[in-house]
Amino acid sequence: MKKKKRIAILTGGGDCPGINAVIRAVTKKAILECDMEVIGIEDGYHGLVYNRHRKLHYNDVSGILTLGGTILGTSKTANPYRYAVKKGKALTFKDMSGCAIGNLEKLGIECLVVIGGDGTQGIAHRLFRDGVPVIGIPKTIDNDLRGTDITFGFDSAVYVATEGIDRMHSTAESHHRVMIIEVMGHTAGWIALHAGIAGGGDIILIPEIPYDINIIGDRVKERHKKGKRFSIAVIAEGAKPIGGEAVIQRIVKESADSIRLGGIGFVLGAQIERLTGVETRTVVMGHLLRGGSPTPFDRVLATILGTRAVDMIKNKELGYMVGLKANSLVNVSLGIVAKGPRIIPLNHPLIESARSVGTCFGN
Ligand code: F6P
Repeated sequence: MKKKKRIAILTGGGDCPGINAVIRAVTKKAILECDMEVIGIEDGYHGLVYNRHRKLHYNDVSGILTLGGTILGTSKTANPYRYAVKKGKALTFKDMSGCAIGNLEKLGIECLVVIGGDGTQGIAHRLFRDGVPVIGIPKTIDNDLRGTDITFGFDSAVYVATEGIDRMHSTAESHHRVMIIEVMGHTAGWIALHAGIAGGGDIILIPEIPYDINIIGDRVKERHKKGKRFSIAVIAEGAKPIGGEAVIQRIVKESADSIRLGGIGFVLGAQIERLTGVETRTVVMGHLLRGGSPTPFDRVLATILGTRAVDMIKNKELGYMVGLKANSLVNVSLGIVAKGPRIIPLNHPLIESARSVGTCFGN
């Protein structure tokens, strides 16, 4: 009997809505159309190093299209090239890539499908250079991957953030308060920009445009004078004042993306209240943006990206991430994705549109 082609799937980095939809798309197409065997690697690159995996059958991926999180588990810290090992309180790093690659070889994997953000894809790129056949699929709520206009998970995060802003609007108006909504996004402001526009934010603050607190205070006072006794400010967790730094919540040494951001909304709130005398409250949306079911858009995107990845395996188009550019699927070299996050260009048309309807970016 002819040996079946075997592929593996791994999900790395933070979870987001749509991962299961991708796992489903890859697995169903691989089984139904290509008669392949699919192995699910557990807990991201941890599972690769420790050889933890399970075979994915058709029934394992049936009924998971709408499910949040990842059925395979994930890890934000595991990097086979810099694997954190704790001895008591001491933290050391070991190169475990040989072990990870050996495990893939023993399993007879002909292609590893890596679902992840820039950190995860950066590791995939190194594995590829070390001889592992790899294909990447762009995942993150932050939408900050190079080579693609959009990542799955982003639309779902924007949807939840917008819902939050809408709910904050009515309470802000009733109490004549400034309401600040802090959203994730790491060093990029894509979620804040999109949700801020969709939710009609009066002030949108993103890492790409450092802000002047006096300009923000003036905007709040100006709105009050005009009879708008409330304001909505949407701030990205990575936003920073001119000449200042983003607020770091914690340094996670064992993680490739070691800086955990968060809390700038509270700093901003105290400053606005002091400058304007208007009562100000802050809500941090945080991980709420990562949980739950994907939007219809993300379900469709996940399905398209996942099925395309299987085509790429068949065509031996390895070492690439599948991306979406101007509504067309493209192959993006993993080397490009590994270069780091894609931030918002200052001439982005959305910034201009928001300014045209009076949105303040704090500069
Ligand atoms: O990259 C996705 C993301 O949700 C960022 O927006 C955020 O900065 C980070 O992950 C939070 O990570 P953690 O799960 O470690 O709190």
